[in-house]
Amino acid sequence: MKNNLAVNGGPKTIDKKFPWPVFDQTDIEVVTDIASTGNWGNPNCDDRVMALEDEFASYCGTKYALTCVNGSVALRLALIACGVRPGDEVIVPPYTFIATASVVLEANCVPVFVDIDPDTYNIAPAEIERAITKRTRAIIPVHFAGQACDMDRIMAISKKHNLRVIEDACHAHGAEYKNKKLGSIGDAGCFSFQSSKNLTSGEGGMIVTNDDSLYDMMNSLRNVGRVKGGQWYDHHNLGCNYRITQLQSVLLLNQLKRLEEQTRKRNENGLYLNSLLKEIDGITPLARGLGETLHSYHIYIFKYDRTKFNDLPKKEFSEMLAAEGVPCFMGYPYPLYKQPLFQEKNFMCYAIPDEVDYSEVSCPVTEKACYDEAVWIMQNSMLGSKDDMMKFAEAIRKIQKAVL
Ligand SMILES: Cc1ncc(COP(=O)(O)O)c(C=O)c1O
Repeated sequence: MKNNLAVNGGPKTIDKKFPWPVFDQTDIEVVTDIASTGNWGNPNCDDRVMALEDEFASYCGTKYALTCVNGSVALRLALIACGVRPGDEVIVPPYTFIATASVVLEANCVPVFVDIDPDTYNIAPAEIERAITKRTRAIIPVHFAGQACDMDRIMAISKKHNLRVIEDACHAHGAEYKNKKLGSIGDAGCFSFQSSKNLTSGEGGMIVTNDDSLYDMMNSLRNVGRVKGGQWYDHHNLGCNYRITQLQSVLLLNQLKRLEEQTRKRNENGLYLNSLLKEIDGITPLARGLGETLHSYHIYIFKYDRTKFNDLPKKEFSEMLAAEGVPCFMGYPYPLYKQPLFQEKNFMCYAIPDEVDYSEVSCPVTEKACYDEAVWIMQNSMLGSKDDMMKFAEAIRKIQKAVL
């Protein structure tokens, strides 16, 4: 063994589990209670589902909240309800989960990739302006990792060009921009409750909005095209059954009670970890202070500079850090537009114009983030103690010392 790194059999810097989801007897009780009523489903927006929607809308400060099966469907319903037409262009970042862009294809629209800002990894407003054409109809800014996008500029651009804004807030439950909850600023905001997310019921999704007609259409689309006041077997729009269950709703209602405190804890730990990591040569935490008053740290991301680590590739560095006990990995291996879906145009039955071609797309900031720079620490470990944050920094120092 050439050094005492855990990857070579040495002692771990931190040997601790960071459980997720966090739950206790109260979560078990709410699920058991609803299970014992037999009222599990949600054919008529049943009471626990409606209670969750009311509670989430009031938490986000929006007029409406609407549950659905997952974050991907939330995005798709919002986009379709916005009135996009086949062939319309929708601006998305390439540093995000596939759903942000695949829902655009599923709406027969064309995702246009716009690069991210090198300091925040969120979509760069100046690049959005450059990508707008006469076919552009909407922007999907992603509050990536739980950090707010530059919403003042994005909303100003959307106003100027008459575009709809659908916030992908799937990482951003409880996070804020200028003291407003993320998701509440654009035309609609979409959330995921999948297992890894900061608020979870295993699976699930939510859309928040202040727009009456958007709400009515999304409500219809998630409920097989039914409309308010219509009969059970009247179907007015092309929807599907995208409803969640009462069982998920009671769990989310109980989990929601913990969200604000957990978000503040992650935010506090994130700021503290920033102060520790910025002292390490070759490590740069992502920038803060650009309007995000509360960061949900669904992912804590720092930038890694291999030249300060004897040219150790990012992948090996992240594996070494994970072996030291820091719950981390290298994140997306390549930008979204490099996915076979886009490169091979595997668009199946969707009516995407023939001339659409992703082979020449190049977003250098995203490429650098994926290939060389970004390292991700997951949200559950951001609920740890100050001492844990110190150990995360210590583990990086240990690797640096060993490789130099
Ligand atoms: C940024 C982003 N958008 C959308 C989604 C889709 O959410 P879901 O998995 O609930 O469909 C995810 C899920 O990981 C995500 O990370």
